[in-house]
Amino acid sequence: MLSTIEQTNLHIMPTYGRNDVVIVNGYGATCYDADGKKYIDFGSGIGTTSLGYCNDAWAEAVCEQVHKVQHTSNLFYHQPQAMLAEKLCAMTGYQKLFFGNSGAEANECAIKIARKYSFDRYGKGRHTIITLVNSFHGRTITTLSATGQDVFHNYFFPFTEGFKFAKANDIADLHDKLDDTVCGIMIEYVQGEGGVMALNPEFVAEIRKICDEKDILMIADEVQTGVGRTGKLLAGEHYQCKADITTLAKGIGGGLPIGVCLANQKCADVLGIGAHGSTFGGNPVVCAGAVKVLETLEQPGMLDGILEKSKFLRGQIAALDEVQEVSGLGMMIGIALKTKKASDVLKECLANGLLVLTAKDRVRLLPPLTISEEELKAGAEILCHVLK
Ligand SMILES: Cc1ncc(COP(=O)(O)O)c(C=O)c1O
Repeated sequence: MLSTIEQTNLHIMPTYGRNDVVIVNGYGATCYDADGKKYIDFGSGIGTTSLGYCNDAWAEAVCEQVHKVQHTSNLFYHQPQAMLAEKLCAMTGYQKLFFGNSGAEANECAIKIARKYSFDRYGKGRHTIITLVNSFHGRTITTLSATGQDVFHNYFFPFTEGFKFAKANDIADLHDKLDDTVCGIMIEYVQGEGGVMALNPEFVAEIRKICDEKDILMIADEVQTGVGRTGKLLAGEHYQCKADITTLAKGIGGGLPIGVCLANQKCADVLGIGAHGSTFGGNPVVCAGAVKVLETLEQPGMLDGILEKSKFLRGQIAALDEVQEVSGLGMMIGIALKTKKASDVLKECLANGLLVLTAKDRVRLLPPLTISEEELKAGAEILCHVLK
């Protein structure tokens, strides 16, 4: 009989650089492999299991919903979808939303809204979206086109037209890229896949100003930064900035697939019947779980607690000689190293019972937001041991 790794490598397309670990079960920020080896997880999938493995309230809500109605088409109504939508709008201050199944889908929706908003008001030709150099917005052809990294603009030609890339934190370059064809500016407040790089507040403020002045829609891709990851519900709060559209995915599902495109009053009704859709978007089981994620984040002191935990972890890491810089915001942490390679650190951490991620040449940490003090300390100890 083939092993899980052999079965996977034989039958699944080799699109991932996987680690040779088979994860079998987990609870909180701790998981176990097929040999019973224990790992502290500082990656949360890739920022998805925001409440850790098998959070009780989340798992109960998901299981309960599975036994009621696991799916119905979006041609009918169901309570978990309505409840999640109401809660998300109330907590974020957005007017309406669209549910998809992934970050890329949420961004596709945002791009469609920006283009149709402009088409409805100004007619054809105002379709360009400015995104940032070094950004990452997804793997569909259009979101790859929106991604500002040349390495992704290969093989799959022709790419979707109508994207321009401005340098992050370079206001002059942003103005250079602006012309009468622009209908949207899309940013990540912290570029995650691009190396955990936070934008400057002045740059974000300039984008907001330009968008207001020129009736361009500002789109915040909060697929990685959103839902408490940075210690605020939305990372835009760190910048006192509210985009016209914010996209979410990853952490909002607590480990199940979901994408959300939130729109403000200005563009809430741009997409009408037939303009967009998804078979699985807003699935009852996923929505029932996501409500529990939001209820957890709503608990008094939860967001401040995330900031406290991140302060502890950042402090431990910053004190190490090997560390050049600790970047990002809150529990979205990038570590630039002086001499070691991030990929080697990842392997050494694995050997020592800690799961971490990399982004470009940095080690990247996205621990579960609910990680216990004990797990946090145990994980930090392993990381510090590896980096010493
Ligand atoms: C900022 C950002 N946008 C979009 C995506 C794509 O999300 P998904 O893989 O769910 O399509 C990612 C995934 O890493 C991301 O970090």
